This record gives sequence, structure tokens and C-alpha cells, in this order.
Amino acid sequence: MSIETLEVPVAPPANVYAVRVTAVKHYTPFLFSFSCERPGAFRFRSGEFVMIGLMNGPKPLLRAYSIASPAWGEQLEFYSIKVPDGPLTSRLQNIKVGDEILLGKKPTGTLVLDALTPGKRLFLVSTGTGIAPFASLIREPETYERYDEVIVTHTCRTTPELEYGYELIEQTKADPLVGEEAAKKLRLVTSVTRDPHPLQGRITTLIENGELFKHLDEPPLDPAHDRVMICGSAAVLQAMKELCEAHGFVEGSNSEPGSFVIERAFAG
Ligand code: A2P
Repeated sequence: MSIETLEVPVAPPANVYAVRVTAVKHYTPFLFSFSCERPGAFRFRSGEFVMIGLMNGPKPLLRAYSIASPAWGEQLEFYSIKVPDGPLTSRLQNIKVGDEILLGKKPTGTLVLDALTPGKRLFLVSTGTGIAPFASLIREPETYERYDEVIVTHTCRTTPELEYGYELIEQTKADPLVGEEAAKKLRLVTSVTRDPHPLQGRITTLIENGELFKHLDEPPLDPAHDRVMICGSAAVLQAMKELCEAHGFVEGSNSEPGSFVIERAFAG
């Protein structure tokens, strides 16, 4: 072998693990989920995000991804869009079981139970892949210890994009650890903005015109006992933040818990 054809394997940097992919599922031409091994030392709180990526020549290419599996899970799950010309997702969408991906060593985030003050009803408001951190939180037993009701809202442009959420709720209600509590306390409400659907419209509109609460047969938002977590695009976060603040909610953080918290759904 001549020196020109010798390929030198590039080791991942010290701030990431190289982990094997254990499952991949494609939902639509633009959405897929994948799972990977969980290193023994990898700890996180349900709802947090972490950097995920691939080597790009000699350098890692990493993006933030919410962890969709609960803190007790043996594997780590993620839910991703596929951006045809996205630097990472155009390649990541082709991963197969057994391939190696990169996993950051420092998960973090604000969509965690400790960033909220105690309440009775928990609203988990998501658009698109923003449902991922809530996939983690609804499989976390502590969520049901802290709240009497857990209401996930999932809004997408088209109906096929709702499939992941439907499957998630069904699996959660059948889960040996949280299934019994979830069957009593967990509800999913879906809305769609660009296809016909029983509940049509943006989540902000449905909250403001009261249709969401009519559909749920529940009283409207009240900061006295409701808590809200929001995950979606930057535009959705801004609109929901303004809406929450107009209703008297106060944004929380890890250091200062409040009545609502937000986090971007990451993509690229
Ligand atoms: P719409 O179809 O009216 O734009 P995206 O796929 O762009 O992330 O959008 C996911 C969902 O979020 C869509 O249903 C979209 O509705 C909705 N959305 C987009 N911008 C806003 C906003 N500013 N406030 C509330 N919902 C929004």
C-alpha cells in the first residue's frame, strides 16, 4: 500500500463519546428517530439536550438534540428532521444500526421539572420535532408525582408529522414503569395548520380563542396552578413566551424556577 492511499482513522475529540446506533426509524421523508448506546458514565435529567454529530473529515460536526428517552433509559433516543442540504442531517438521516455517531459528554437544558415551581396541571406545548424533550418527560415517573394532569400539545403543518406523537403516547400508556399513571393523567392533543384535522390552527391561536380548552373540556390557563413547558421553532417560542407572560406566567430557569420554561427545537 502506498502512503497516498493510507487512510488514517481520526479519533473523536475528548468532549464527545463515539457510540453505536442501535435503532433507526423513518416516519416521513423529512422526519426520523434514532437510538444509540448509552455510555455508563452518561447522566442527564429528563428533558435535557446534548450535542450529537458525525466526524466531518478531521473535525466533529455537532448539533444540539433534545434527548427523547427518559433519564432511566438504557439507550438514548432522538427525534430529528432531515434537511436535504443541512450540513449534519443530510448525512445523519442515512445512519444505520451499527454505525458510530458522536455524543457530547455534557447534557444541559431548561425543560426540566426542577425549573418549574409546584403546580397541578402541566402543559407540554410542542411544534414539529419539539415534542422530543416531552417524549423524555412523559416517561419520567417524577412527572406524575408532581402533577395531577399532564397535557401534551403537538402542532404540525401536516397530519403525517403527528405519527411520532401518537406512537409515543400509546407506548407510554403501555410502559411497565409509568403506564398506569400515564393512563390516568396523560393526554395528547394534536393540531394541524396546513391539512384538514379535527383541531386546526396554531397553538397560540387555539389558546387565545379558547378552542384548545373547549376541545379538552378543561378550564383555561391559570398561572396559579398551571405550569407550561414550550419547545418549537424560534417563532413559536417567542409567540408562546409573549402569550404566557400576558397571562401572568413567569419564565423559570434552573437557578430560579418559575411557571413556564422554553427551549428551542434544534435543527440543521
Ligand atoms: P404554520 O403552518 O401556520 O406556519 P415549522 O414546521 O415551521 O416549525 O412549524 C411547525 C408548526 O408551528 C406549524 O404548524 C406552524 O404553523 C406553527 N407556527 C409557526 N410559526 C408560529 C408562530 N409564530 N406561532 C405559533 N405557531 C407557529
